Amino acid sequence: MNLTADEQYILAGKEGRATRKAMQILVALGTIYGAERMLPVSSVQVAGVSYDNLGEAGLQWLDEMAAGGGRAQVLTTLNPAGMDVENWQALGISPDFAERQQRIIQAFARMGIVTTCTCTPYLSGNLPHFGQHIAWAESSAVCYANSVLGARTNREGGPSALAAALTGCTPAYGYHLDENRLPDLAVEVQVQLTDTHHFGALGKAVGEALQAAGKKLPYIQGIEHTSLENLKSLCASLATFGGAAMFHMQGITPEAGLFEPPAEKIVVTPADLQAAIQSLNDATSEEVDFVSLGCPHLSIQEIARIAQLLEGKKVSKEFWITTARPTKQIADLMGYTQIIETSGARIAADTCCVVAPIRGRFRAMATDSAKACYYAYSKNRFKTVFKPFDEVVATALITNKTNEANRTNKI
Ligand code: F3S
Repeated sequence: MNLTADEQYILAGKEGRATRKAMQILVALGTIYGAERMLPVSSVQVAGVSYDNLGEAGLQWLDEMAAGGGRAQVLTTLNPAGMDVENWQALGISPDFAERQQRIIQAFARMGIVTTCTCTPYLSGNLPHFGQHIAWAESSAVCYANSVLGARTNREGGPSALAAALTGCTPAYGYHLDENRLPDLAVEVQVQLTDTHHFGALGKAVGEALQAAGKKLPYIQGIEHTSLENLKSLCASLATFGGAAMFHMQGITPEAGLFEPPAEKIVVTPADLQAAIQSLNDATSEEVDFVSLGCPHLSIQEIARIAQLLEGKKVSKEFWITTARPTKQIADLMGYTQIIETSGARIAADTCCVVAPIRGRFRAMATDSAKACYYAYSKNRFKTVFKPFDEVVATALITNKTNEANRTNKI
C-alpha cells in the first residue's frame, strides 16, 4: 500500500504502541483486499462490546490498547453491551459479569470512545452524511449507513473498527469505491408490506435469494412508502440472512436513481413472504416466556407506541424493551418509561436479547425481529414466535397457563 508520511510515522510506532498496532491491522487488511491507499474516516462504530462475546482475551486486548496510549481520532460509538450498565441487577445479570463488562466499557472510555452502547448509532448522534467514508462494525448499522444514509463503509470487525478509530483512517477497498456499489440483482416486491415484521421477513426472503444466486447487492422495486423503523428492520435481516452490506430501493434510498435495475431479477410474492414468516415461528404464544422488542434498538416513536399499548395493563412475562441510553432518557422525559415499568415490562438500555448472557434462561421468545429470531435459536437455543410489533406487546399480556401453574406450585 502507498502510505502517507503521517501513516508511515504511525506505523513506525512514533505515536505509541496502540496506534502502531492499529495501523498494522489496517495495512494487513488493505494488503489482503488490494487497497492502494488509506482513506480518512469521519465516524466509527465499534462492535464486540459484550463480555459474553469478548471473554477474557478480548478484555485483556482492550486494556492493552488503552494502556498503550490508543485514543480515538474521530467520533466513535459502541455496539450494545451485555447488560444495562446502570440497571443490570434488574435484568438478572451476575455481579461477576457486570464487573467484567464495566471494565470493558471503561477501557473504551479511556480511549476517548463515546460509551453510548447501541446498534442504531444514527439515532444517537453518530449520523454520517451522504458520501462520507466511515468505518462501522455491526452489520445492521453498516447496511443502514450504506443504503439509507449513502455513507460508505465495509462490514468492519471489532478490531478493524477500533483500529480505524485510533488512526482516523481505513483502507480504500470494497464499499468505499464506486464500482462496488453497483446493484447485481433486481428484486420486485409484489406484496404489500406494512410493518417492521414484514420488512424483517422481506430481508430474510431476499437475503436467502441473494445467497442462492451468489449475489450481494439487491435493487429493490415496488415499495412506495416506508419508515425509518421498517428500514432498520430490513437492514438487520438482510445482513443476517444474506450477508448484505447494502441495497438500493427505488424511490427511497439516495443512490438508487444512479442505476438501472439489473437484468437478472427475482420476484417476492405474498407466498414468499408468508413462507419467511412461517420459518421463523416454531413456538406458540402459549409457550412464550420471554418477550423482546428492540432489535435493532428502538426509536423513540416505537417506545411511545409500546407505552400506549401497555398503559394501565400488567404484563405476565419477562419483557425487555431494548434501546440506546439517550433514547431511554427521552422516554424518561416523556413519561413513557414510567408507564412501561408500571406494567412490569423493563426498558433495558445499552443491551439486547442477543448479546446479553441469557442462554438457557428462557424457552421461547416473541419478537418482531427476524434477526433476533435467528440469534435466539443459534446463540441461545430459544424457540421463537415472530409477529407484528403490536401483537408482540399483546403476547406479553397473555397469561401463560404453564407460568401460572409454576407460580401456583411455588406458592
Ligand atoms: Fe442490535 Fe442486538 Fe439486534 S446488537 S441489531 S439489537 S442483535
